[in-house]
Amino acid sequence: MTDSPTPSPAGPQSADTQDAEVLRERALAALLAARERTTLLTDSVDDHELIAQHSPLMSPLVWDLAHIGNQEELWLLRDVGGREAMRPDIDGLYDAFEHPRASRPSLPLLAPAEARSYAAEVRGRALDVLGSTPLGGRPLLRSGFAFGMIAQHEQQHDETMLITHQLRSGPAALRAPEPPGATDAAALPAEVLVPGGPFTMGTSTEPWALDNERPAHRREVPGFLIDTAPVTCAAYQAFIEDGGYTEQRWWAPEGWAMVREHELKAPLFWHREAGQWLRRRFGVTEPVPADEPVLHVSWYEADAYARWAGRRLPTEAEWEKAARHDPGAGRSRRYPWGDEDPTPERANLGQRHLRPAPAGAYAAGRSPSGAGQLIGDVWEWTSSDFLPYPGFAPFPYREYSEVFFGPGHKVLRGGSFAVDAVACRGTFRNWDLPVRRQIFSGFRTARDV
Ligand code: AVJ
Ligand code: FE
Repeated sequence: MTDSPTPSPAGPQSADTQDAEVLRERALAALLAARERTTLLTDSVDDHELIAQHSPLMSPLVWDLAHIGNQEELWLLRDVGGREAMRPDIDGLYDAFEHPRASRPSLPLLAPAEARSYAAEVRGRALDVLGSTPLGGRPLLRSGFAFGMIAQHEQQHDETMLITHQLRSGPAALRAPEPPGATDAAALPAEVLVPGGPFTMGTSTEPWALDNERPAHRREVPGFLIDTAPVTCAAYQAFIEDGGYTEQRWWAPEGWAMVREHELKAPLFWHREAGQWLRRRFGVTEPVPADEPVLHVSWYEADAYARWAGRRLPTEAEWEKAARHDPGAGRSRRYPWGDEDPTPERANLGQRHLRPAPAGAYAAGRSPSGAGQLIGDVWEWTSSDFLPYPGFAPFPYREYSEVFFGPGHKVLRGGSFAVDAVACRGTFRNWDLPVRRQIFSGFRTARDV
């Protein structure tokens, strides 16, 4: 599915020409995969830990679980399926806009067993709806969008729940194999050139792309250089050792205020012991791995590091051009490596590993520009505010994207090891407050040519 700014006839891969059975199977697989992950994240701790608030920044895990079920009921049962409300009494409890995260533990939430059976019952009925609803017609059902949207929503909360797991104290509850190493890291250039010129940003053809990724449009992007890999812990440590957190000149004013107020000295979850930096990761404390992309830094820290390094954060358009633009074909790809879906050889996604892979890993996932690990590993802060593309239309609800547009939120791109492929692609846009550090955030830097 090539993205061109003017709609072109659907290609052979376009979902518009795929038959409904393929779409149904894809939707079913996405919903089942999401639930498998949700179950793992919520069955790996006891009921006491499910209802506890591990950080005022996060909901109790049991809130996420019932909220996942409630969103699925709202969209797939009531809207798509035209069914009666199962539990109209609980809608307010699980409306993210009605109650801030810090207040959620004191709400009369469904108990763990109730939340589990509610989500399971909704799912059973949603699969009936999936099996009996023609896909197409209304925009919400085109290419099975509503089902794709709900699978993405669940996977997004699975990433949120993994953040909660990282914030909880106590011994490890989750385990996963190590990610692959970097085979040719020493031979890689530090940065790659992306020549100037227009490219197509966003998408009008990706069937499950969310409203803020649309529509495809041309962007003129002057030439720039961008890091081949995300900034590593070793590189970030050099910033710390050089007085990064003690010198105001590297920091945006609000960033400096944050450093002073919270006495920041290093990324979240790092601490110094016997002259060595250690970090806590999912209940395990270990030396900070030198060649791993730095994780748990705020936008302000990424911005300060870049200034210290004599560089800057890439704009969102630069990031997407480095990731998607194919100069040979003169078009934008779905992913850095091409139009084919992610595989374990191409990107570190889906909580298969509980950490980013070393800088230089995933050679099969590199873009035409030569940049690697753009998809997966760590969410990458960009310099850009979260704003609508020209021609944006809220769909299907204003509260997904539109209410967050503005200078208060910065865009993150590329996905982390914690997000599933269904909610990650070359056009996918994430956003957060510039002070946030509990998210799986890192960055790479850029400079003008
Ligand atoms: C796109 C990750 C910022 O978690 O706040 C979940 C996704 N929206 N439920 C978030 C989302 C509604 C959203 N982010
Ligand atoms: Fe949600």
